[in-house]
Amino acid sequence: MKKYILLPVILLLLPFLIWAQTLQSPNGNLKLGFEIKQGIPYYQLDFKGKAVVLPSRLGLELKNQTSFLEGFELGNISYENLDETWKPVWGEESSIRNHYNEMEVTLLQPGTERQLIVRFRLFDEGLGFRYEFPLQPKLAHFVVKEELTQFAMTGDHIAFWIAGDYDTQEYDYTESRLSEIRPLMAKAVTANLAQTPFSPTGIQTSLMMKTDDGLYINLHEAALIDYSTMHLNLDDEKMVFESWLTPDVLGVKGYLQTPSHSPWRTIIVSDDARDVLASRMTYNLNEPSKIEDTSWIKPMKYVGVWWEMITGKSSWSYTDEFPAVRIGETDYSKAKPNGRHGATTENVKKYIDFAAEHGFDGVLVEGWNVGWEDWFGNSKDFVFDFLTPYPDFDLVGIREYAKNKDVEMVMHHETSSSVRNYERFMDEAYKFMKDNGYNSVKSGYVGFILPRGENHYSQWIVNHYQYALEKAADYQIMVNAHEAVRPTGIARTWPNLIANESARGTEYQAFGGSKPNHVTVLPFTRLIGGPMDYTPGIFEMDISKINPDNDSWVNSTLANQLALYVTMYSPLQMAADLPENYERFPDAFQFIKDVGIDWEESKYLEAEPGYYITIARKEKGSNNWFIGNVNGVPPRTSMISFDFLDPDKTYIATIYADAKDAHYRNNPQAYTIRRVVVNNKSKFSQLTAPGGGYAISIKEADKADLKGLKKL
Ligand code: NOJ
Ligand code: CA
Repeated sequence: MKKYILLPVILLLLPFLIWAQTLQSPNGNLKLGFEIKQGIPYYQLDFKGKAVVLPSRLGLELKNQTSFLEGFELGNISYENLDETWKPVWGEESSIRNHYNEMEVTLLQPGTERQLIVRFRLFDEGLGFRYEFPLQPKLAHFVVKEELTQFAMTGDHIAFWIAGDYDTQEYDYTESRLSEIRPLMAKAVTANLAQTPFSPTGIQTSLMMKTDDGLYINLHEAALIDYSTMHLNLDDEKMVFESWLTPDVLGVKGYLQTPSHSPWRTIIVSDDARDVLASRMTYNLNEPSKIEDTSWIKPMKYVGVWWEMITGKSSWSYTDEFPAVRIGETDYSKAKPNGRHGATTENVKKYIDFAAEHGFDGVLVEGWNVGWEDWFGNSKDFVFDFLTPYPDFDLVGIREYAKNKDVEMVMHHETSSSVRNYERFMDEAYKFMKDNGYNSVKSGYVGFILPRGENHYSQWIVNHYQYALEKAADYQIMVNAHEAVRPTGIARTWPNLIANESARGTEYQAFGGSKPNHVTVLPFTRLIGGPMDYTPGIFEMDISKINPDNDSWVNSTLANQLALYVTMYSPLQMAADLPENYERFPDAFQFIKDVGIDWEESKYLEAEPGYYITIARKEKGSNNWFIGNVNGVPPRTSMISFDFLDPDKTYIATIYADAKDAHYRNNPQAYTIRRVVVNNKSKFSQLTAPGGGYAISIKEADKADLKGLKKL
């Protein structure tokens, strides 16, 4: 009898016990197995006794020499562990624990007399591993044909995915079973939604999945430096993902020289979706800051001459007269202004006034510099010089005006993906910024890369983004790069990378709209690698009211837009709508003015990818808390406790929530605002609308402030 009871237990443990080398996470929940079978290295990952990754192959295919795929023998194995705490310059919390157990496995390939190291780091919430190529007599330079790292899934999981694409990451996510990726992608390609998928089942990371037995699994990479970006290609019969690196113009995946290493391949796993949001593993797998004096790196809230161009109300270009311009030769002084140019001195001053009046740190101005008449789609090399303002943009006058009002100007460098041109001007452009009081730049890489044939995520361009970032650090400039490669935690090492776009941002709400649940997915995918310049805060959802020729609709309620300042973490937050739209809703705008931008701690209260996220954050340097809840499509009642508040304090909560009849589609501006007294015993429940949510600011109160207010 006893024998039979024990049998299932033994069977469950068996797959793990047979692994030659094993490693446990510090809390014991995660277990890694490693083994070489018939010369081929494999790993497996279990969480609380359940398989997360079934035996999966490791290795790389090399060009013109024996690959690192087989013929291996086990060399040295060593173990390490670390438990340290570090302080990020900005972040979701003021100190981060980096706690892992490590196993370093040396693989010997006697047939070639070469070595390959695989380093595994097991954290409580996931695994990171990478390939290391030590300096050795028989390996100096080599070319990667493909990295063939496998991630064998245990079943046909639910996934939140975007199509593999070498040139854009700006897609809406699809929620489907893994087995549905192929038919859905084929349909999208037919409908021209996916531009350049490289494979019928190729997808981008970070990939978020959920298993039928309630495990949340996230696949991504950390510390992508001098290597090509990883996509994942799915064998949808076996449910095995395999890495697929981004090729360069020659189809090559990477040129490496020893000593070097790959980025970390990361697998975050938990049975509670909130742990995925709370994970700092991706940052922890990056190197500490290389910038010693970080005093010039500051989180900021900004407004900008931007939404009016995105909606089509104004133009980036100064004139409609020139179908083609030559930088340095085109005489703009003789051209007729088109009357729609956004970046005029007068308009910019209005935004500076608005920023000063409402306490914003900065003003971004796009379309200030010459070249926008034919910037896009022409494969133009000398497209912008990043130095010459249009005749109606008084750079010096604006500089002095902003300075007097204590507002910082934010520079804009649209490169139009002419990378050579940007590198050509970079030093001069950064120096020009510093000379004129600009400390941060929003850069952009719209369109196909120049030189022609290169794409947005190969090793070559990854190195360009890094070059731009490091050079900016030399000039003490903060960078917010749009269309650049999806982040992989590099901001730990280069904290001047205060944001990226690198996913579908708010701009698409003016280009036909995004899915109403998009913002319940992004924190589980794009934000795993770092903050996003999502540009929230749209109050007017009917874009035709801004531009009668644009019938786009913002698929979100106004309360949902407020919540994004908390749920979409970024040290750089824009109030993206037009000043006049904020002036129409001054009571709701107050939340955007009040909300913190840098955090002491964050509490992940409720989370389910694709459906809802509720986060509470305590502002650095104050006792204020801010809560954001975003909801997907089904209406839902959010229920939270305020037990994170200090038990000895009383607070006033201002609650900005969807009204009962709010709906992203037909009643987005229906919201309520109420002020109530709360303490750490308070409980809160709130109905949230389709595409809705709520935002709460919680401030410590004096007794006198409480008069006339009800308890929650
Ligand atoms: C795309 C960026 O995402 C957007 O923010 C910017 O306004 C345009 N490119 C023009 O540079
Ligand atoms: Ca973009």
